[in-house]
Amino acid sequence: MTFTRRFILGAAMAATFATSVAALAAPPLVIGFSQVGAESEWRSANTASIKQAAGAAGITLKFADAQQKQENQVKAIRSFIAQRVDLIAFSPVVESGWDTVLREAKAAKIPVIVTDRAVKVTDPTLYASFIGSDFVEEGRRAGRWLAERAAKSPQKAFNIVELQGTVGSAPALDRKAGFAEAIAAHPKLKIIRSQTGDFTRAKGKEVMEAFLKSEGKNINVLYAHNDDMAIGAIQAIEEAGLKPGVDILVVSIDGVKGAFQAMLAGKLNVTVECSPLLGPQLMQLARDVVAGKPVPKRIVVTEGVFPAEVAAKEIASRKY
Ligand code: AHR
Repeated sequence: MTFTRRFILGAAMAATFATSVAALAAPPLVIGFSQVGAESEWRSANTASIKQAAGAAGITLKFADAQQKQENQVKAIRSFIAQRVDLIAFSPVVESGWDTVLREAKAAKIPVIVTDRAVKVTDPTLYASFIGSDFVEEGRRAGRWLAERAAKSPQKAFNIVELQGTVGSAPALDRKAGFAEAIAAHPKLKIIRSQTGDFTRAKGKEVMEAFLKSEGKNINVLYAHNDDMAIGAIQAIEEAGLKPGVDILVVSIDGVKGAFQAMLAGKLNVTVECSPLLGPQLMQLARDVVAGKPVPKRIVVTEGVFPAEVAAKEIASRKY
């Protein structure tokens, strides 16, 4: 081997060694994550996905559960800033009211990723990227399914009661808007009552009981903004001596296992998928943002629609 060749080889080996040592010595990425709470089966799956993905990627995750309260999320974000984490990610309980705290993160030069639910801010540079579902489209899909079902039926009117998600949250606002848009051109379909069930089973049941008390057999359809509220409402319908899925059509969103079980039992008619498995994509996005790579401002998750007819075939492959 000539001197030049030996020199080049030696230099290359030294560079590789230096890179490996640097990689070993580099402290792991630290992400502060503020979660909405633990209000639903969906949320538990989302939390598990984020924790697992962080572990698998060797990322240190500082996790804070906000128990459905915006003030807890603001506190958590401030504490992440004080701890000088590398990046902050959060799933905002409601859309508005984030400008001040996000400006504080920006001033501290800590990048922010919004996940699952959108925020409304005056300055779009306050966050690097937003990864999550298209909630308006989910509402439209639920509405379209119902419109098709109603079109095939000789029944003249379908009175709908709507269980909304958390007041002021992106999924509640968007799923309401998307559904309303999809049924607008169908005079058979009419929303007769609409109230929040806060995305929980207990509240879904309680509000459905009130709907049944005031509207009784006048109700033909339940549209629930998530599966948990639908499952709670199914219990209320049964306790009222009616058959969910038959006397009252049940349309909901998420696609959790509980919804598939309800479909197999003939109690739920369709669930529109909303994937909570955001962890792996979020971790990759966080690495790219911290590395200063250009990232898309909006990343939309791909999802499907599962009517009861396919539940038996699909349930085994459901991951949440
Ligand atoms: O933001 C996603 C929504 O929040 C899910 O549909 C719901 O189940 C959860 O609580």
